[in-house]
Amino acid sequence: MNESIVYLNGEFLPLEEAKIPVLDRGFIFGDGVYEVIPCYGGRLFRLEEHLRRLQYSLDGIRLRNPLTPAEWKEMLQRLAEANPAEDQSLYLQVTRGVAGRDHRFPEKSTPTVFAMSKPLPPAPPELLERGVAAITLPDIRWQCCHIKAISLLPNVLLRQQALEAGADEAILLRDGEATEGAASNLFIVEAGVLITPPKDHRLLPGITRDLVVELARDAGIPCQERTVTESELRAAQEIWITSSTREILPVTRLDDTVVGKGRPGEMWQRMYQLYQRYKERLRTGEAETDRR
Ligand code: PDD
Repeated sequence: MNESIVYLNGEFLPLEEAKIPVLDRGFIFGDGVYEVIPCYGGRLFRLEEHLRRLQYSLDGIRLRNPLTPAEWKEMLQRLAEANPAEDQSLYLQVTRGVAGRDHRFPEKSTPTVFAMSKPLPPAPPELLERGVAAITLPDIRWQCCHIKAISLLPNVLLRQQALEAGADEAILLRDGEATEGAASNLFIVEAGVLITPPKDHRLLPGITRDLVVELARDAGIPCQERTVTESELRAAQEIWITSSTREILPVTRLDDTVVGKGRPGEMWQRMYQLYQRYKERLRTGEAETDRR
């Protein structure tokens, strides 16, 4: 961790030297947005999609984008090169900057831009063999879950509650429907069909989610984007959670019940292979050009 290099407002510097003023609105109000972008073998994973979502989040909180797409790309590539791990997860956040504490937007403020890197190791083999446990919890978050806001207190509380119950993730319920995880998107398999909730204000439009849908369609796997009721979730043959840092994980226990046969399902095995192949194509530079 000591040698970790971060980016702050135009400069690359060691993590310990990166400092922001206490009146930063990110610190005071959680007034900012973020992205988490995997980088495999020096190649940024779905950068265009991540930057598009960043713009969507910035528009959602009415904050101007301080960097152009080319500047984001250059900065993130330099950050990845400055850090040693072969595979990394790059975290970036933009806040509304430093101003006296007042809820209203400051008339003039310069957004704070921060980015850091963490090694992104593959999932431990036991996790892929056994799957993970999840619990269901009521979604206590706000009405704008499509914005990737840094104010994550409800997500933190939900994830902690799951961990304390011996589970790895909380699957969230709202209006009788399962929407997503505390930090992941949700898929179920029902009668051989892959289903994921549609993108709306109740969930984050996940980049991994979109890739899984794309890989399923390319492979001829029947896939639907539609609501998942709580009872469908409980009766599902397979449940998966997806995210940039956890890729696609099979959920084999939900609350006190075994999911399907209690082992990662066949459809998951297939999608896992497709996903790993996609990553390999990305490493060799094929994937980003292949798909358009
Ligand atoms: N979180 N839903 C929520 C609430 C999330 O926080 C995340 C990811 C996802 C999956 O999105 P993606 O596939 O684009 O990573 C869905 C990140 C990894 C985090 O907060 O660390």
